[in-house]
Amino acid sequence: MYKDEIDTDKLPQHVAITMDGNGRWAKSKGKFRVFGHQSGVKAVRDTVEGAAEIGLKYITLYAFSTENWDRPKREVNALMSLLVSTINKETKTLLNNNIRLEAIGNIEELPKKCQSELKEAIEKTKHGSRTTLILALSYSSRWEIINAIKQIVKNKVSEKNINEELFSQYLTTKGVPNPELLIRTSGEQRISNFLLWQIAYSELYFTDILWPEFRREDLFEAIYKFQQRERRFGKISEQLKEKN
Ligand code: FPP
Repeated sequence: MYKDEIDTDKLPQHVAITMDGNGRWAKSKGKFRVFGHQSGVKAVRDTVEGAAEIGLKYITLYAFSTENWDRPKREVNALMSLLVSTINKETKTLLNNNIRLEAIGNIEELPKKCQSELKEAIEKTKHGSRTTLILALSYSSRWEIINAIKQIVKNKVSEKNINEELFSQYLTTKGVPNPELLIRTSGEQRISNFLLWQIAYSELYFTDILWPEFRREDLFEAIYKFQQRERRFGKISEQLKEKN
């Protein structure tokens, strides 16, 4: 069991996941794509509960990208309804696990019902202190970066004050540590416009598991394997050893 192998004193603070493969999973079963998304909710629940179980501070899930709006209308509508019903139904799971819900992305683009469910769940779970679950919805990194630049210009920030720290404050992830680990399921090895600024030094972990079959043990495996890697941040191995 990977869970027992994890060093809980050295957990990443933040794990981000690109949930991919719902459509292919459904197709392999001779079902419609939407069935894959519905089954993906079980993977979301188990993974998020697993994150809380080991005390992960932040988990971000890429649930809907800006580019996903270009999918067939039927699929977009089904995904939006699924989001509304899942957020509504799962608020209890979040409260039971002491999890706080947050959202990043162009939330105003979402259907009104989706926005109101989201707002309500965020409000109800705001005291959750074990884990913060961040849903990336109508999110894309380039949108986020352009948005940050617009705000910086609007606030007439002087050039001499612009640095990495200031820029980070204008991103939707303001106050959230950068993910040390980014997981993508389904065998695709791409970033797809996800947290481009924030993953500058993240470890990338790709697994062939299709999202509907991903479970907490797979998260634990990714974290365990992350802990076996050496993160050098541009330095050499010996410099890191000197520090310890
Ligand atoms: C990618 O698979 C998955 C999505 C675009 C949607 C993810 C949504 C869920 C798992 C359901 C709801 C989630 C929450 C957080 C309540 P894909 O459709 O791109 O799969 P494919 O690459 O096989 O076509």
